[in-house]
Amino acid sequence: MKLVTLKSAIDHKPCANDFAVIEVPMPQCPSNGVVVRVVHLSLDPYVGSTLRDRHMGHNAPTPMKDPITGGIVGQVVQSTMPDVGEGDWVHSMEGGWLEYAAIDAQHIRKIDPSIAPLSAHAGVLGMPGLTGWAGITQLANVGDGDTVLVDAAAGPVGGTVGQIARIKGAKRVVGIAGGPEKCALVENEYGFDKCVDYKKDGWRDDLGEALPEGLSVFFENVSAEMAMIALGHANLYARGVLCGLVDAYQTKTQSQHAMNIGMVIGKRAKLHGLVVYDFYERWNEYIAEAAPWIREGKLKIVEDRMDGLENAPILFERLMNGQNKGKAVITVAAE
Ligand SMILES: NC(=O)c1ccc[n+]([C@@H]2O[C@H](COP(=O)([O-])OP(=O)(O)OC[C@H]3O[C@@H](n4cnc5c(N)ncnc54)[C@H](OP(=O)(O)O)[C@@H]3O)[C@@H](O)[C@H]2O)c1
Repeated sequence: MKLVTLKSAIDHKPCANDFAVIEVPMPQCPSNGVVVRVVHLSLDPYVGSTLRDRHMGHNAPTPMKDPITGGIVGQVVQSTMPDVGEGDWVHSMEGGWLEYAAIDAQHIRKIDPSIAPLSAHAGVLGMPGLTGWAGITQLANVGDGDTVLVDAAAGPVGGTVGQIARIKGAKRVVGIAGGPEKCALVENEYGFDKCVDYKKDGWRDDLGEALPEGLSVFFENVSAEMAMIALGHANLYARGVLCGLVDAYQTKTQSQHAMNIGMVIGKRAKLHGLVVYDFYERWNEYIAEAAPWIREGKLKIVEDRMDGLENAPILFERLMNGQNKGKAVITVAAE
């Protein structure tokens, strides 16, 4: 079977040429676990940091041996678990860039293929969706009358944040994204009130115009600098969710992410650090709430998808350069 690995250790922003597709034997089934036929593979920004051993959740994979880290959706072909059998559909954050994955029981979550398209479990029903839900409903507690701002708004986290904020009663939802196509997606598909293109001259003025009454909640995906811009528009007692610093993931050294604490004090703001691992045990609760939103058309599935495991490096390079529009997903095999 095929597996995608690093050709050698890297300390730069990953590009397609850093990866090799190799042939390896089929994996052995663990004593309490499964072998999964990988069908959909999720590509996520944290993997860029993982490859350089700078991520809190995973160690860097060994070149020419280990698969690249990745969440997967797939079908069980062998099982030693009492409650998971051959043919069952599962999700795991411990899959990887490969055709068949051996996964221990504690990393396996059974999914119901009838409630939504299977690839949604990599995106809006997967880790990025759970992240957006956790930030909006559990940390910021968005409700009636809130005005919410989120950056990287065209991606699966940012898009989910805005749509769930609207579902929960926000009166105004504003996004920030790079380029007119992404902004059109955010406004027309995700239904935000406004999306500001930060690559355009004068965008800071546009942001002010998009938030005439300020904001009560901001959700930060990109950088401390963007968080401080958001805080500049915050009303007193605003809540901020600090979720990601994607602009710094590829720097040579760890950045310091300076914040203006005086402004936090002056605004009486409450800032919440978000780590999605804390919410993994509530994944099924999230899916039960969100699957009907998908069926009702309130939560959209937008994917930047390619077929074939061998295309994972190309799509990943696009993600690393911020060129993805929606959730980056590789379909490894037919459902
Ligand atoms: N805390 C947690 O537990 C947790 C869990 C999941 C995800 N996250 C974080 O949430 C954020 C969004 O994740 P996502 O999966 O939805 O990603 P995504 O939005 O699909 O992709 C990242 C986006 O970030 C923007 N970006 C800004 N500066 C960039 C740069 N220097 N290099 C590359 N991209 C840049 C790009 O959009 P624009 O062109 O619009 O700028 C890019 O498309 C990331 O920071 C991720 O690490 C955190």
